[in-house]
Amino acid sequence: MTTALYDDIADWYEEYASDTSAPYLDRARSVLAELLGGGPGRCLDLCCGTGAHAAELRRLGWTPVGVDLSGGQLRHAAARLPVVRGDATALPFADGAVPAVACVLAHTDMPDYPAAIAEAARVLAPGGRLVHLGVHPCFCGAFADRSDLERIVIDGGYAERERTFRSWNPSGVRARVGAWHLPLADLLNAVTAAGLTVTRVREAGPAAGIPDVLALQATKPR
Ligand SMILES: C[S@@+](CC[C@H](N)C(=O)[O-])C[C@H]1O[C@@H](n2cnc3c(N)ncnc32)[C@H](O)[C@@H]1O
Repeated sequence: MTTALYDDIADWYEEYASDTSAPYLDRARSVLAELLGGGPGRCLDLCCGTGAHAAELRRLGWTPVGVDLSGGQLRHAAARLPVVRGDATALPFADGAVPAVACVLAHTDMPDYPAAIAEAARVLAPGGRLVHLGVHPCFCGAFADRSDLERIVIDGGYAERERTFRSWNPSGVRARVGAWHLPLADLLNAVTAAGLTVTRVREAGPAAGIPDVLALQATKPR
């Protein structure tokens, strides 16, 4: 397998997730808990990174298994949960193998997130649940100047889907590894095209009010 984008910044990401951006990740985890609900059973932590959500998944009663492309990220994650190095768009799991999949803050890290959603749908058991949680596609991206959280400025780049390092924040994830953008309609259409039913949608943000996270719960029909 080739070098993954996060290999070179894995130590930085570990610090980012557990310290610098801990309040943001705490907020993401509380939305994840709300939409995923309780176990038991295996929950695939898709694009698990450093395993920042493993403890929360366990607290909810799930048995987490992490998958990520980056060996660097998995070095940290392996201390927190069982992990497999693999590609979200070609998962090393059988059809219908797991009752739950959670994918947190990763959809802008790959060129074809719809393919990852299709794979998540394939490995979900009938009645199983996918929770997607990501940066809000309307208010976060290269096209969004977030330097004033009460007055976010969106430019015409909303329609651009290619990878870019353009960011209002020169020290964030986007400026370090780049990011792809998936407009809102593309995200929702990817879920329905995978045969899943959107069962809940949640927006969340800092106190200022404009949401920076969009999460959805989707269920595989029985
Ligand atoms: C921003 S990190 C999020 C990590 C973790 N979910 C969290 O919330 O802290 C995005 C992760 O997605 C992983 N990733 C990107 N493309 C992937 C792919 N095709 N398959 C598996 N993992 C991938 C990266 O290696 C990285 O660890």
